[in-house]
Amino acid sequence: KPHFLSVTDLNEVEVANLLDLAESFVALNRQTSKKLDLLAGRTLMNLFFENSTRTQSSFELAGKRLGADVVNMSPRSSSIAKGETLIDTAVTLNAMQPDLLVVRHASSGAASLLSQKVTCSVVNAGDGQHEHPTQALLDALSMRRACGRIAGLKVAICGDIAHSRVARSNIAMLQMLGAEVRLVGPPTLMPSQVDRWNVAVHHDMRKGIAGCDVVMMLRLQLERMDGVMAPSQREYFRFWGLDREKLAHAAPNVKVMHPGPMNRGVEIDSDVADDLTVSLIQDQVEMGVAARMAVLATLAARLDNER
Ligand code: CP
Repeated sequence: KPHFLSVTDLNEVEVANLLDLAESFVALNRQTSKKLDLLAGRTLMNLFFENSTRTQSSFELAGKRLGADVVNMSPRSSSIAKGETLIDTAVTLNAMQPDLLVVRHASSGAASLLSQKVTCSVVNAGDGQHEHPTQALLDALSMRRACGRIAGLKVAICGDIAHSRVARSNIAMLQMLGAEVRLVGPPTLMPSQVDRWNVAVHHDMRKGIAGCDVVMMLRLQLERMDGVMAPSQREYFRFWGLDREKLAHAAPNVKVMHPGPMNRGVEIDSDVADDLTVSLIQDQVEMGVAARMAVLATLAARLDNER
């Protein structure tokens, strides 16, 4: 079965096709009548083992707008709370004959593991610190719409890189599409494998974002750190929080992004986050529905071809 697990499984043509298809869904989503039947008769199950506002609701809307039946499984109200394992849960749901299983889990590799245990298509909605491929797709769509292109853009990804699946997926996708990616953050929040990513690494925020067309801020993921490693939030904002003064070092028409959820006053100042002349944060949320529709429609078309 076709799956959507990692940006590294895609090539440039496939990404371009997904972005173009997503663009057509943006227009649809702004209409009063938003329904298509590309997934009519299909069943999509959302299986989120970690909290989500944006990803889960946008996959639900994406499935419904394409005509699928959508079921949301919450670990707190399911038999996972009684000790059922990830694999047993997925195999049980698979026995109900879904066509698409959208999975978020705290363990890196969880979606890939499930894809080997079930007979339906699996979509990775975020696996630990590994990947969040639909986030990278919606971010690329937001950037392309705001800047008119991705190739040649200077993009600074800033903050807690070490714990960020968003950073890993974005680095892979932006490099594939020809952007120049810089990573900006404290040495303690840079992963050890950064040397293999072919990116410039900066430990001074002002120098790191100098001349950048896009500044992508990341959430400080305190839940993935132990107490010793976690920085003081006030100190963190002083050195790594994006405010007007630091942003002035970027390119004149800079766009600011954040995948959400935001820690206001920690990695980003409200003054910047809420300025719609620079902030793409709400656009990113809107593009999330369109990008996920493109992924689901593409998988469904491949499932149709296999019939
Ligand atoms: N960006 C993102 O994945 O947000 P959620 O955790 O709310 O889904």
